[in-house]
Amino acid sequence: MSKQFTRTEYEQLKAQLNNHAYHYYVLDEPLIADAEYDVLYQELLQIEASHPEWVTSDSPTQRVADQPLSKFEAVKHARPMLSLGNVFAQEELTDFVERIHKLLEKAGQGIKEINFSAEPKLDGLAVSIRYEQGRLSQAATRGDGTTGEDITANIKTIQSVPLKLRGNDYPDVFEVRGEVVMPRDGFVKYNEWALANDDKVFANPRNGAAGSLRQLDPQKTAKRPLAFYAYSVGVVEPAHGLTYHSEVLAWIKSLGLPVNVLNKVVAGENGCAEYYENIGAQRADLNFDIDGVVYKVDNLAWQDALGFVTKAPRWATAHKFPAEEATTVVENIDVQVGRTGSITPVARLKPVTVGGVTVTNATLHNEDEIKRKDVRIGDTVFVRRAGDVIPEVVKVVLAKRPKGTSPFVMPTYCPICATKLYKAEGEAVLRCPAGLSCDAQLKESIKHFASRKGMDIEGLGDKLVEQLVDAGLVNTPADLYHLTESQVGGLERMAQKSAQNLLQGISESKQTTLPRFIYSLGIREVGEATALTLATELKTLPNIMQTDAEALQELPDIGAVVAQKIISYFAVSSNKEVIAALLDVGISWPVIEAPAQSKQPLADQVVVLTGKLNVFTRADAKNRLQELGAKVTSSVSAKTNYVLAGENAGSKLRKAEELGVTVVDEAWLSAYLE
Ligand code: IVH
Repeated sequence: MSKQFTRTEYEQLKAQLNNHAYHYYVLDEPLIADAEYDVLYQELLQIEASHPEWVTSDSPTQRVADQPLSKFEAVKHARPMLSLGNVFAQEELTDFVERIHKLLEKAGQGIKEINFSAEPKLDGLAVSIRYEQGRLSQAATRGDGTTGEDITANIKTIQSVPLKLRGNDYPDVFEVRGEVVMPRDGFVKYNEWALANDDKVFANPRNGAAGSLRQLDPQKTAKRPLAFYAYSVGVVEPAHGLTYHSEVLAWIKSLGLPVNVLNKVVAGENGCAEYYENIGAQRADLNFDIDGVVYKVDNLAWQDALGFVTKAPRWATAHKFPAEEATTVVENIDVQVGRTGSITPVARLKPVTVGGVTVTNATLHNEDEIKRKDVRIGDTVFVRRAGDVIPEVVKVVLAKRPKGTSPFVMPTYCPICATKLYKAEGEAVLRCPAGLSCDAQLKESIKHFASRKGMDIEGLGDKLVEQLVDAGLVNTPADLYHLTESQVGGLERMAQKSAQNLLQGISESKQTTLPRFIYSLGIREVGEATALTLATELKTLPNIMQTDAEALQELPDIGAVVAQKIISYFAVSSNKEVIAALLDVGISWPVIEAPAQSKQPLADQVVVLTGKLNVFTRADAKNRLQELGAKVTSSVSAKTNYVLAGENAGSKLRKAEELGVTVVDEAWLSAYLE
């Protein structure tokens, strides 16, 4: 049973939604995240369904968006710009497809399977662009769906929007509809520029696109990195006479307008569900934000038969991803001490669901960032969690700041070991210089040492490391190898069997490889790839420890900064003592022989991995390629020799094709390994 609402509650909810819509659409300064708005909106729809007599014309359900800004001329759309219904769960998708089957049956069209045009749901701003006699004559925002704003001058600044249609076989009147977005790379670059030039920084690419189109000065808009993707047509005269939506998309493309390459015709509910999974898996790698996918019945005659409910078509729906942004309250601000002593301010949050995961902490990065965003305890903030990245505080909702707050001040002393903190010249990061004598750094160093890419100690998880350090049993990584069964067994919640397993795991880790050993030391700036370079190029540990900065810089991918970090690390006597102690307990690795050319068939070849792999894991494929001598990088350029593409490879594959880079698959790698 759903909750019963009173008339007063309904009026309040409506007023609340209208206020949010005003902040969102008119001021472009939202007070809550889109997903939270959606929840309230759904509630309003529910109430209205049970009390249609309450509905008034000021309900947000009675219009798609708010008033256009008065500063732009109003444009009445020749055909209304519709919105889309939403589905969130698999069952809702099933309902959507079944409903269409039933309706079509009623209309005398019994159909076994329905083809859908499946498309990414771009997170930008909907616009309609009109071409008369092939020339761009007017562009408008969606506005309330009936009337939008004239943004012709701004649209013309988008390079990918043609001012004249391609070829000469175009209709007299051609209205194309689509989404204007700010691509992620452009968004990042633009914000860097804005920060350096004291200009407005955008909270996310959607705000970037909206803010740029609402910019009254087209000169400024021209400097904004915007892109347009067409997804349908409005008025077309004379009519195009095509049969399928997918044909319309191909036609739009042939007229010179960008259409998303991820669009695909899929069969039935299963095809839709599969598409949703695939696009979801690629989401983090795409160069534009998407908030879901859209399914549209591909057959245009069937679309007509299905028709509309108020403002949304029955033949299409949006299948939304879990939201990546939400608002919540900062309950406290702590600082965390990292492995290298870096001090990171962290917001402790009132728990909130973001992208399907409960988030209670979000990073505030560093002192400069916390100052710039002016995040204070008690503030309501936007939290963002995109893909696998650590959740971050995007910005403060100033309108909701409680009275009596004060700016956060970074500590002067390490909160763990009380050593005075320092900031190196040219660095934004505050650090604790105490090294392994700071318990926080010791814990993180041991975790890094034992990690899968490091010494790979089975059974030594983060919690256990913390217990061992807190109990005073481990003060350096070498101490791990002196632990006894009675010491480990004495820890809380540690059964005898687990204690034995841990000791066995520790003992087995002694047989390792030189790159793993180098990586596990946790030298600043020395990750997996650099550790591998050092080991393969310099062959022995003494050699690595003695090579000078100049010689180090001659190695592939080692610059002045990294070389200096390596030199500094080996110059510290306590570090040399730890290494000696580790060798003392019997840590060893196979001698690295000079690689015969034949053993390194991919020597000096640059390889990029993309898409979903089936035979290898990503990490595995990378390791194997490196063993074959290849350099594995993350972006495709003219220097790339091979792109190893798995399933559903996206932008990197396209880039490779554009640049004429050889594209290979997993079988190619397997063949090399054999
Ligand atoms: S079709 C009749 N296709 O989603 C259908 N919309 O909630 C009209 N959007 O206003 C829209 N990607 O801003 C369609 N591939 C896509 C889309 C898409 C993003 C946006 C668009 C629209 C909103 C509807």
